[in-house]
Amino acid sequence: MIVFMHNATMHFAATLPYKIGACVIKRFSDKEVYVKVEEDVAGKTVWVLGATFAPADMILELIFLLDALQRSGATINLLFTYFGYARQDRPTPGEAFSAQVICNIFKLFKLNKIVIIQPHSAALHKLLPFEAVIPVELFYPVADNYDIIVAPDKGAAEWVEPIAKTCNKEFLQGSKQRFGLDQTRFLGLQNNVRDKKILIIDDVISTGGTLLNLVYGLEQRGARSISALATHGIFAGDAHERLINSNLDKIYVTNTIPQQENEKIVTLDVSPLIQKVIGLT
Ligand code: R5P
Repeated sequence: MIVFMHNATMHFAATLPYKIGACVIKRFSDKEVYVKVEEDVAGKTVWVLGATFAPADMILELIFLLDALQRSGATINLLFTYFGYARQDRPTPGEAFSAQVICNIFKLFKLNKIVIIQPHSAALHKLLPFEAVIPVELFYPVADNYDIIVAPDKGAAEWVEPIAKTCNKEFLQGSKQRFGLDQTRFLGLQNNVRDKKILIIDDVISTGGTLLNLVYGLEQRGARSISALATHGIFAGDAHERLINSNLDKIYVTNTIPQQENEKIVTLDVSPLIQKVIGLT
């Protein structure tokens, strides 16, 4: 199996046992993106590992790679390790429906199969046909070390509660209010968390606001220690620093987005999940 990667997913080249498709991805002097496939893919089925986190150039690299492969006669399976813009899925009047626009871009290609690791919500299915996979096998051993598993909101609860059930742990669902572009307010959590070891599980850590609000609320209620786990660690702006300096005990994230580990941040490798997905074809 030949797997093509672009700059957003190249960090998997060292951990996956596949032939990496030869291609050139570079910039012209004016920073325009250039992509050329240098592999004979005519009549072959290939996988592309794509991710659309910032900068937006990552989207361009990925779609040019898809175009180059399509024009070279490949049958393309696309695995998104991270599908960005999915959180912009409920536009208010005057706002761009960015999640739909990004999905429409990928609909321009004749893709045999699309798989997304931990899409933001099931609502994305209305915009793009894909299979979702969640790296729960990586989460179970972490969850085993805690007393209570907390999902920050209803959306997260849908997939976090089954993890708590599988690990035989108490489960709590928080609720939050969104305001501004990416600010949130934590609204409530009624159950008793006094002296408990808490693990908050979410799909994404971006600004870290959701987590920090929740940490504050849980501390106020006497939790003994609080850790967090998220599939995608974006760490926007100064989130990395703010979270490292917070009272969070440990922060577990996967490498769907490349990470820098330190004594607080632990990276879980999704390569086995990627192999499982690719191995099924
Ligand atoms: C939102 O619905 C997501 O599930 C995450 O809770 C959110 O995107 C985290 O963002 P932030 O770290 O900026 O609060």
